[in-house]
Amino acid sequence: MSLVEPGEPAALASGVRTAFADRYGEPPVSVGRAPGRVNLIGEHTDYNAGLVLPVALPHATYAAVCARADELVRITSVQQDETWEGTLAEIGPRSVDGWAGYAAGVIWALRQAGHDLPGVDLLVDSRVPLGAGLSSSAALECSVAVALADLLGLDLTDDVRRELIEACIRAETEVVGAPTGGMDQTVAVLGEAGRALLIDFASQETRQVPLDLADHTLLVTDTRVSHELTDGGYGARRADCDTAAHALGVPTLREADLASVDQLNEDRVRRRARHVVTEIQRVTDTVTALEQRDWDAVGTLFDASHLSMRDDFEISCPELDAAVSVAVQAGAVAARMTGGGFGGSSVSVVPDERVEAVMRAIDAAFALEGFRPPAHLHAVRPKVPTSSQLEPRYSAGPSTPCGVGSSR
Ligand code: GLA
Repeated sequence: MSLVEPGEPAALASGVRTAFADRYGEPPVSVGRAPGRVNLIGEHTDYNAGLVLPVALPHATYAAVCARADELVRITSVQQDETWEGTLAEIGPRSVDGWAGYAAGVIWALRQAGHDLPGVDLLVDSRVPLGAGLSSSAALECSVAVALADLLGLDLTDDVRRELIEACIRAETEVVGAPTGGMDQTVAVLGEAGRALLIDFASQETRQVPLDLADHTLLVTDTRVSHELTDGGYGARRADCDTAAHALGVPTLREADLASVDQLNEDRVRRRARHVVTEIQRVTDTVTALEQRDWDAVGTLFDASHLSMRDDFEISCPELDAAVSVAVQAGAVAARMTGGGFGGSSVSVVPDERVEAVMRAIDAAFALEGFRPPAHLHAVRPKVPTSSQLEPRYSAGPSTPCGVGSSR
């Protein structure tokens, strides 16, 4: 059985500092950390001005950074062999291919917002599984943003956090070109351990919802079916939602009601809109059910959400369907697919004493079906005291340039 551990934050921060010094010959000035996320419920609702309820994972990305005295930018990672190198002027919309675009995009977006960032050396290390629907991209962007904010001498006030979220969203949508909705960056910067973050994308208001799961564990199963938010499926769903809103004469599907949605002519567009409108209601209902620790209600809501994504939004796959149904058969009180879809992960609420059995049952079912072996994560350890998941300053030290004189 494969269980992905989050690692110990102080040790990981220290490791990224050492790796940076090995790679660039000098220690970094700042280290930023930002978590991946698992969305409890509210899928494909963010870009429809709806509600979402994600939880920050204990699994995070760590970014080490140092200012340079010139315009050069070097970006590398413990997980990747290659280093991206270019100048500040070379970074812009769709200009940097691959994973480095997420980091370079944040530098670009912060400069666009008026921050006087020089060239930098950057190194990242991540404990968030890649392509698993757990927001490894947002964790990368936000860890870089937090490190750069520290380099700029900015305190993480509410306003600065909002600004970093905006910069990370611009990095993803404009520089990388993934038309995503903002949930992942928001929870990566504002999420707190032991709480879910209710985000209302109409008002931009957020609320920390205590996640007292009593004797239950939040289990995430990565199906290892990799998903890509730039490959067209995500954008096509978004376009269908826009078409539905337009046909209904509303600015966004947040303003649509089910009765009008049911009148839409085109079957596919009607089903897409029905998912969004019913899913937004399920977020509100899930918050109530969680507050009452009404596991039956949470189970019913997760079930309806999964079916809605499978049948109306059509973003599930056999591995996700299997992970969800086997989890419930083996004792989970609630299970559904989570994230953008087309692969990625499932999330389940499992009584503590059934966690081992549920993981084993999913592994066995995957082996029987000939699927790749899945990986599991324990997303929430509810009995740990709440504290911010975002720890910006592992390293002290003045924001002086380094890497001066080093060449490409
Ligand atoms: C991805 C996107 C988010 C959101 C989810 C689906 O994670 O990045 O903005 O749309 O898919 O809920």
